[in-house]
Amino acid sequence: MLTYVYLRNEEDGLPTRPSQDYAKDKLAILKGYLGRFTTAMKDKSWRALNYIDLQAGPGKNSFKPSGDILLGSPLLALTTRFAFDNVFLVEMGTSEYDALVSRVEASNLGESVKHYNEDCNVAVDKIVENIKQNDKVYSPGIWPCLNLAFLDPEGLEVEWQTVEKLASLQRMDLIINFSTNGITRNAGQLVGHEEDTVIDRFFGTREWRSIYEETRRKGGSVVRRELIDFYLGRLKGMGYVKTKREEKPFKNQRNVQVYTMIFASKHDLGIQFWNGAVQEVNQPRLF
Ligand SMILES: C[S@@+](CC[C@H](N)C(=O)[O-])C[C@H]1O[C@@H](n2cnc3c(N)ncnc32)[C@H](O)[C@@H]1O
Repeated sequence: MLTYVYLRNEEDGLPTRPSQDYAKDKLAILKGYLGRFTTAMKDKSWRALNYIDLQAGPGKNSFKPSGDILLGSPLLALTTRFAFDNVFLVEMGTSEYDALVSRVEASNLGESVKHYNEDCNVAVDKIVENIKQNDKVYSPGIWPCLNLAFLDPEGLEVEWQTVEKLASLQRMDLIINFSTNGITRNAGQLVGHEEDTVIDRFFGTREWRSIYEETRRKGGSVVRRELIDFYLGRLKGMGYVKTKREEKPFKNQRNVQVYTMIFASKHDLGIQFWNGAVQEVNQPRLF
């Protein structure tokens, strides 16, 4: 099989991730952001442009009900016009990981890629250490690595500690798929637990519990809003003063909000790229 089939929005014989059509906008926004980011930064004096994907999946998604097959986040990052210097891909699932590696290797894009077949909360240490080592070497006139991380979990598997570790790098922008569904489905059951729960680890604190208790009677949309704002507030506490959330497109067929995309940066330019990518996706499409 010709290698380029692995990089196109089409069937290539390897496993795909089943997905719903409403999730296409998530990938379209990511693609728009990646294009803007790599184009604007290509001639700048960054030591390296790094992309980190903590839940890479198999590399392609098959959407329902349309039947479309589209590149997933790791392959979007590997097919930008101006390339990232380093791409760090984490995927815990064995079959997804195998498909991902086959696609990446078959496409001759492998040289800049490091893969990790493990929990993202473990792999993050190796990735951050790798980038810190690179940042350590002094080169006059060269800025530190510029890093972009995409966090795209199925639920609440990305622990706050992991976000903190990423944020400890000198330049790190974050695109986070915040699973509102994962929280609202589990919060009622976990809010009274004595031991730390998955939601406590997700927020890195138990403070969400009192917010949930105070707002739960006001309905799901208020709970979601308050908890997203709480998370954004925690990001701001780490210096991410430029934050945005995109809630509108990510509802399932029953009109239930499934997730919110959060963008967090310390710089205006990142917000400009983000707004551009979102506007492009939100524009009415004629066909
Ligand atoms: C929503 S999918 C990712 C889709 C992918 N970003 C894309 O755009 O095509 C989430 C993936 O995370 C993987 N996963 C689940 N828990 C994980 C963990 N703790 N660490 C790393 N990967 C995990 C799942 O196997 C799944 O493939």
